[in-house]
Amino acid sequence: MSLALAKNTEEDLWTILEQMSLRDKIGQLRQVDGSGGRADQSLLGAIREGRVGSVINVVDPVLVNELQQIALEESPCGIPLVFARDVIHGFKTIFPIPLGQAATWNTDLAKEAARLAASEAYAAGIRWTFAPMIDVSRDPRWGRIAESFGEDPLLNAVFGRAMIEGFQGEDLAALGSIAACAKHFVGYGDSESGIDYSSTNVSEFELRNVHLEPFREAVAAGVASVMSSLSDVDGIPATAHRELIRGVLRDEWGFAGLVVSDWDSVKQLTVHGITADDREAAYQAAEARIDIEMTSDAYENHLEDLVSAGEIGVDTIDAMVMSVLTLKKNIGLFDVPYTPKDYKLGVSESAATDCAHRQASESFVLLKNDNAVLPIDRKEIDSICLVGPMADQPQEQLGTWVFDGDSGLSVTPLKAFQDTLHKDCEVVFERGLETTRSSCGELAEVAVEKASCCDVVLAIIGEEAILSGEAHCRANINLPGDQVEFVRRLKATGKTVIVIILSGRPLTIGNILPHADAVLFALHPGTMTGPAICDLIFGHTSPSGKLPFTLPKSVGQIPIYYSKKNGGRPATHDSIMSIDDIPAGAEQTSFGMTAFHLDDGFEPLFPFGFGLSYANFEYSDLTILSNELTQGGKLKVSVRVGNIGLKDAYEVVQLYVRDRVGSITRPVRELKAFEKILIPAGQVRDVRFSLSRADFSFYRRCREYGVEPGAFDLWVGGSSLADLHVAFEIDA
Ligand code: BGC
Repeated sequence: MSLALAKNTEEDLWTILEQMSLRDKIGQLRQVDGSGGRADQSLLGAIREGRVGSVINVVDPVLVNELQQIALEESPCGIPLVFARDVIHGFKTIFPIPLGQAATWNTDLAKEAARLAASEAYAAGIRWTFAPMIDVSRDPRWGRIAESFGEDPLLNAVFGRAMIEGFQGEDLAALGSIAACAKHFVGYGDSESGIDYSSTNVSEFELRNVHLEPFREAVAAGVASVMSSLSDVDGIPATAHRELIRGVLRDEWGFAGLVVSDWDSVKQLTVHGITADDREAAYQAAEARIDIEMTSDAYENHLEDLVSAGEIGVDTIDAMVMSVLTLKKNIGLFDVPYTPKDYKLGVSESAATDCAHRQASESFVLLKNDNAVLPIDRKEIDSICLVGPMADQPQEQLGTWVFDGDSGLSVTPLKAFQDTLHKDCEVVFERGLETTRSSCGELAEVAVEKASCCDVVLAIIGEEAILSGEAHCRANINLPGDQVEFVRRLKATGKTVIVIILSGRPLTIGNILPHADAVLFALHPGTMTGPAICDLIFGHTSPSGKLPFTLPKSVGQIPIYYSKKNGGRPATHDSIMSIDDIPAGAEQTSFGMTAFHLDDGFEPLFPFGFGLSYANFEYSDLTILSNELTQGGKLKVSVRVGNIGLKDAYEVVQLYVRDRVGSITRPVRELKAFEKILIPAGQVRDVRFSLSRADFSFYRRCREYGVEPGAFDLWVGGSSLADLHVAFEIDA
């Protein structure tokens, strides 16, 4: 039996379902790894027998069409396969890693980038991506922080929405649109000591008020699918978490889309020790309503038996299959099952590189700029020396999760400076260190020698792509190898030294600050890293990135994030003491009995939301224009921001709130809104924010969401340390 195509209504899907055998149904619930390609006869055979619904990791459009033809013409039901791939921050053209995209605080760019990535992936036959990752990430040791939008629930929510809208477009069934997947549901970013796959012990209130929030927004944005996490949440592995998947995601939020397991995570339920064997694992995952099992075969081997034994109802299987068929219908697979041969990207060839360039430029965070050494006036210098293990690395600048990224498209910093400066300024290059992990040797000596003969030194350092990403966690997050010593030697030449750090995570960089006149920090910025750096160094663009995380002084401070609780004994500058001031034989004293580390105090190296500019901004006139929150209306706020510098520049205006008294303790500050605006030199702009009651709602002690009346504080400024303040009330 081959089922006709063009299934466009839910009724059509039920008609298909009615004609399917239990084996056919179970086939739809199975995703198979296709990376073995044509040679994998077992894959071809399984497709022919209708035992596969989805294939991951085939990106050759010719092979995609060949496999699709087998599914359509030879399998029992002729249901098209959906081809999936991790398209995380670009496909061929690579945009900054998600953490770098968050550093732009520009969601329009994230949406544009996701749209372009979708288009490139679609041309390769891909119709479903496993992005965005919206795990709130507060531990820089965790390699996957690279893939997140940082520490803040709001940033994860709004960037997640932007990516979903970009991937899925206005019409998910249109050519060039692909289904998005919000992952990893839920709490995965909170793994103990930042080690991937380790346990997450998140309290109910933290889970609700922090980790679930971005997922709630993803569901509201119409995300087509959700992936369960590999970890356990408070003792229950996410893939078997009926209360969260069926309970919260589906019943409470009304999510009607598809839930996919993570790679092998159904079988791993037994490794976790929550099930005795694959059969029980299949049972628990299906009961939790994981619709598709990614790559492992517990469903394939045991669901039939579980149904025959009456342990799983056919209605559960039918609901799971309907999720799969609905996704296939929604992405237009019944109408356009093959990748059209003549499918052009639908966008000009330069659109992706142009977007990658703009997004990379906006992602750099200027942390230090002594004596305004940046921007450099090209006319004032005759030679520039580029050094460092990341200065000419087409692949490393792309970052993690770039299976299909084309490093041939990469423009490295060296290439960009050579292209820009060929006539009027000599560009000298010396790597200095073989890799970011190398020790100073002969190469470093040569580099320092060459640097000492140039007008300006740019040290481009950091960590290679492989040091972050899935399963690539670090216990120590210093700049690896001898990079600090290398920069110290460069500075000892007496030259102006600009340090540019390309990293996959926040690093503890306090030890390099004294040796640098200026520091630009970026999260692997992708294909167009070089041109972005060139623009920033010469001032064609002013840095406008802001940290989407708190930069710690040391690993010992982790977890450190701005929206912490006040505690009963919060530290202040007056209450802390330094380890260096404690005399020998000191007795126990009550001085300093507040929340701080003796050796690192209580403040981070740089706060969340921080980033300098070539301009200077002045905030004033913070005013509550109207407060109708009690009536269910809006709180309208206005602030004046002036650019008192000499350059036109973007500023990210950030609004934070504190709920002074709550039924559970409330964060000392929470980001509630932000706006990135261009302010020409010498001009002012009035920025208005409008907040609704929902913005003040949280999961309360009574286990319900709602606003608790009382006094609130509100601050607006250029970082989480914003000090322009007003207070307001919400009445009962
Ligand atoms: C990761 C997922 C990813 C999947 C497929 C897993 O190991 O945790 O995020 O989507 O592999 O590649």
